[in-house]
Amino acid sequence: MKRSAFPTLRAIARKTSSRKYPLSSTVVRDCFHSKPAHEEQFITQGSHNDIRSTWPRYLMSQTRPRSLITCFDAYSKSLKSCHASLQAGNPTLECIKDHVTALIGEYVCSRLEDPSPFRILSVGSGDGKNDLAFLEILRELGRGKDNKVHIFERAIEPDEQMLGMFLAKAEHLRESLEGSVSIEFEFDFRPTTYQEYAVQKTKTDVKFDLVHFFHSLYYADLEALEHCYEKELGTKGVILCIIQREGSAVAKYGREFSPQGLILNPGAFYSNRQVKDVAEKNGWKYVECSGESKTCDITAIFDASSQEGNRLLDFVTHWADVRATASGNDLRKILKFWENESVDDGHGKKEVTMRMGAIVIFKGM
Ligand SMILES: C[S@@+](CC[C@H](N)C(=O)[O-])C[C@H]1O[C@@H](n2cnc3c(N)ncnc32)[C@H](O)[C@@H]1O
Repeated sequence: MKRSAFPTLRAIARKTSSRKYPLSSTVVRDCFHSKPAHEEQFITQGSHNDIRSTWPRYLMSQTRPRSLITCFDAYSKSLKSCHASLQAGNPTLECIKDHVTALIGEYVCSRLEDPSPFRILSVGSGDGKNDLAFLEILRELGRGKDNKVHIFERAIEPDEQMLGMFLAKAEHLRESLEGSVSIEFEFDFRPTTYQEYAVQKTKTDVKFDLVHFFHSLYYADLEALEHCYEKELGTKGVILCIIQREGSAVAKYGREFSPQGLILNPGAFYSNRQVKDVAEKNGWKYVECSGESKTCDITAIFDASSQEGNRLLDFVTHWADVRATASGNDLRKILKFWENESVDDGHGKKEVTMRMGAIVIFKGM
């Protein structure tokens, strides 16, 4: 995306690297420079005379394994397949409406009465669908206030196509509110990774009232929580993380396969437990919400000829083209895990449960 693609929303398009990910990104380990996490595991099956018995696993397949998040196009297709396989509804928004609003409502309302803008930092905003729905929820909280409510959001998103979609939706929102006397939104789009953004943060830069990670902490990493608490929030503020729960099928997959060296991007398997650990280690005040559960129909992942199934398999393993790049033995183990994790819905469909929850961290209150 060129700078000119952000004409009216005061977008700051910083392209600091020709690579999609900077070297400081943790996920880059898997794709560009370092050895894959399991490169050192040598194939031990087969005859000793077979030269391949001493090859690293990834050389057994045509392409080396890559973490899914390092491949934008494949990631966004896999994410779509995941959304299409999930039970109807939007668990992120349901969790916010049913649990989070009650926790942050008072704080947000009192801040919205203040003439200075309510400032939000969104990490990994994607196409903005959830961000804009969240802004609508805040707008409802601000309804009926005597003063004009002004909300400023800075959105960090490395996938420029996603950010472009967000921009279009934000333009639409801005046009629909044109002339509104009660509310004003301002956006600042940053087409970059969180890691790149964080190293450029200066002391004099704006401080935020709320930082959110809607299913994005997996890619920003846990240190992002400490950075945001110390450097992005002002003296008072909230960090809101929507993340999978400990008992979720994907988190379990991470725990089971990590010791076997089959996890390319460990952050992708974080759960609410790691967030609570960081909050407790730092002595931060936090509240955990029970969150929402959705079933995910994974029947197609067992069908090698299904493109949708292969994309979904990539998403739940966070491994790009896992069917083609994992060894036969590893693929069997992976499929066995998902088979065991799933339950038959009575009509031949295999379903797993995705459990999501929220952790709200409070600073200065
Ligand atoms: C699961 S999606 C969630 C998108 C959005 N927050 C939502 O709720 O729909 C994760 C998003 O994080 C973005 N992402 C990936 N790596 C990132 C990084 N290093 N820093 C910030 N965002 C990243 C992805 O491009 C993707 O849009």
